[in-house]
Amino acid sequence: MKESQPSAIYLKDYKVPPFLIDKTELTFDLDETTTIVTSRLHMRRNPAFGKSTAPLILDGGEEVKLIGVAMDDYELPPEEYRISEDKLIITATADEFVLTCETLIEPQNNTRLEGLYRSSSMFCTQCEAEGFRHITYYLDRPDVMSVFTTTIIADEARYPVMLSNGNEVERGKTDEGKTVVVWHDPFPKPAYLFALVAGNLAVKNDVFITQSQREIKLQIFTESHNIDKVDYAMEALKRSMRWDEVTYGREYDLDIFMIVAVDDFNMGAMENKGLNIFNSSCLLASPETTTDDTYLRVEAIVAHEYFHNWSGNRVTCRDWFQLSLKEGFTVFRDQTFSADMHSETVKRVEDVSFLKTAQFAEDAGPMAHPVRPASFIEISNFYTLTVYEKGAEIVRMIHTLLGAEKFRAGSDLYFDRHDGQAVTCDDFVAAMQDASGVDLSQFKRWYSQAGTPVVTVTDSYEESTGTYRLIMKQHTPATPGQPTKLPLHIPVRVGLLSQQGGALSAQVNGVAAEDHVLHLKANEQEFVFTGLTSRPVPSLLRSFSAPVKLRYEYSAKDLLLLLSADSDGFNRWSASQQLAVNELTLLINQAIKGDELSIESQLIQGFKALLSDAALDPAMVALILALPSQAYLSELADPIYPAAIKQARQYLKAQLANALSADFERVYREHKIHGEYQATAEDIAHRSLKNIALSYWVETGDELAQQELVTQFQTANNMTDQFSALSIAVHSQHPKAAELLAAFYEQWQSEPLVVNKWLMLSASQEQENALATVKGLLEHPAFDLKNPNKVRSVLGGFGQSVSGFHKADGSGYQFLADQIILLNKRNPQIASRLCTPLTRWKKLQPELSVKMKAELERILAENLSKDVYEVVSKSLA
Ligand code: PHE
Ligand code: ZN
Repeated sequence: MKESQPSAIYLKDYKVPPFLIDKTELTFDLDETTTIVTSRLHMRRNPAFGKSTAPLILDGGEEVKLIGVAMDDYELPPEEYRISEDKLIITATADEFVLTCETLIEPQNNTRLEGLYRSSSMFCTQCEAEGFRHITYYLDRPDVMSVFTTTIIADEARYPVMLSNGNEVERGKTDEGKTVVVWHDPFPKPAYLFALVAGNLAVKNDVFITQSQREIKLQIFTESHNIDKVDYAMEALKRSMRWDEVTYGREYDLDIFMIVAVDDFNMGAMENKGLNIFNSSCLLASPETTTDDTYLRVEAIVAHEYFHNWSGNRVTCRDWFQLSLKEGFTVFRDQTFSADMHSETVKRVEDVSFLKTAQFAEDAGPMAHPVRPASFIEISNFYTLTVYEKGAEIVRMIHTLLGAEKFRAGSDLYFDRHDGQAVTCDDFVAAMQDASGVDLSQFKRWYSQAGTPVVTVTDSYEESTGTYRLIMKQHTPATPGQPTKLPLHIPVRVGLLSQQGGALSAQVNGVAAEDHVLHLKANEQEFVFTGLTSRPVPSLLRSFSAPVKLRYEYSAKDLLLLLSADSDGFNRWSASQQLAVNELTLLINQAIKGDELSIESQLIQGFKALLSDAALDPAMVALILALPSQAYLSELADPIYPAAIKQARQYLKAQLANALSADFERVYREHKIHGEYQATAEDIAHRSLKNIALSYWVETGDELAQQELVTQFQTANNMTDQFSALSIAVHSQHPKAAELLAAFYEQWQSEPLVVNKWLMLSASQEQENALATVKGLLEHPAFDLKNPNKVRSVLGGFGQSVSGFHKADGSGYQFLADQIILLNKRNPQIASRLCTPLTRWKKLQPELSVKMKAELERILAENLSKDVYEVVSKSLA
């Protein structure tokens, strides 16, 4: 352990910056071993800070070497400045001055992938959240916004493409024959939105005509062997640009918009002004190499980063506690966009299923934090599902409370009022409230209170008056640092069904409708529905109108009714999940006791009806057929018995497969698509239903099914079908699984993104020697510890292998801990993310829990990065 542990910073300590930087002029002299960065910062004291003689303190990184510093061209002697840890401190300054700094960095040795680094043959940057300080000394905080001019000097033969934010304004040569390119970005921005790229890149060009008839040049850059895989992203970009004009009235502002794909990237993508940088796994797509899921992800991320141009860049965050201001809002925007491009219900089911699995788990664990955290040790640890996905749910609830029209008035006011500013979540809510007249004062608690609220519903029906009552109680469990909670303003969308499944109109507060948004604001509240003639079945929390855990004692009969008849597609899915969860819970308990598993599954009846109803959306049927995942069942369980959950899922799946074998075979055949691959909602839907039907059919052990699987693997004209066949083979212990895995690698070894899928699937296998397999993968020529995608594939895949990761002797946990320790210094962000599975130790069955905890303690004894220290120490607290 270190002598002094890193300390937390607090939202309540926020102060405006003592200095401002009006203009930032940067020069990068790029070279193979050292890069020299010269900055000229046009600075002045911030009037809003008040009169002060405070010293100028600039942020830097330990690896940044200062060559020289000058004030108004007067070279400062060593006694006029000092470097303390990673800060540059200048004691005496004028009220207004130009600070010149010359620094030296070594991008090729930058393994953290923050700041300026090398990815394959190119230079690229990543500055959010605090990466800019690893390039040069600066006021690296989002409320310091500056106009950037960037000069790049490099050898044109090696780096013919040299990019930065804004417009290219000049190009020339140095005396030594190097090329000089100057970029200017007229929009003031914080340093986290700065970007630079230099390399030998291929480009795809296109144009977009805005609603006001401006012509925007669009460019996507990749290494030359990938340029044939950017057409889909380009089309997605144009759809996003149009959608933001139509839906939010937001037009693009610069004359050029560029995207670059890089192979080594810690996250998905980054919204740098005018120059988005993408993890190549989130940008490249081709039918042969890319699955349907990835097509949809590419579209969503292209849209997300583009939408940040307004929600994030034009209006940015005052401080990093406000991260959800841009991320929650932008996720909401990209979710709505994808829903508009495809199916609204399917998209909602996918998003909610992810939220309930992963965000709910985070909210129930040691890293639980409010959407607007009150403190952090390392901001990189707060790019979380809570800030992103729960943050998006908050914006969605505002949309529900205001209605579409007033929400749009609110977003218009927000963008107008705060254009060019760095603002807070409170400012966002204030704009929504001011434009709509809807009181959001209690609602705002969603930003400051962590934990997932539990809403418990009971009901009663009075025959004589036709009155139906819902009594709702809310309770939010304690989370670290927040022992007690206040009641939230929760919008609960409710409809009523007759016992025959018809939609019922009922009155609430004198308003008759088939669908009501109830405002649950107190700890306990009653809602009265009148005008009924018989006892209804309630459809609660339609479209998942709030991110809560709903408790209502539905009978299996009620759930089957909702599954077959609810007009709310989301709740049909939800009913099927609840039915499956109820049955799986029984089976899990049998497995824990060591009993033989047995159940008369009600799902058979429900599934049979779905499989023979040709009028249904095949995508919805596929979603309903997918049993609750191992991860979701783990989130619900306390304590978690991983092997029992796995056994229960397998048992139920086999029972359904055997009971409905002929239906699955028929559906498999009916939904085969003949003809060319298309990533349309319709085709994706058919493929998803076909492939899940195959997975059930194969589960029966039927020879014919097993042969069909091999045929599909061998003859598929697209990656979705080929990889589905392979995954099913691997997870059903198909006799040819090993052979197919080997053939797949053989076929795709020259496509790194496909190889990553192979690595993940290989690592996730359920087998006796799973640990040996994954250790073998780390030695495989396709593996590379420097590449986050590969690390995530192998270790993420391994986390899914119950027999490997949760091995009874704890060796799976030990293995993961070893990898975390190895990556701790090299790439702290990735190391910290790898800790997530270990943070669940308290909920694990006792024998496993102690083993997992011991590994966290072993990690804590190391000399840790801030990133890993924060997660591990909070997990053990
Ligand atoms: N701001 C990026 C996004 O969500 C995510 C990101 C954060 C990327 C930090 C890199 C580093 O769009
Ligand atoms: Zn984002």
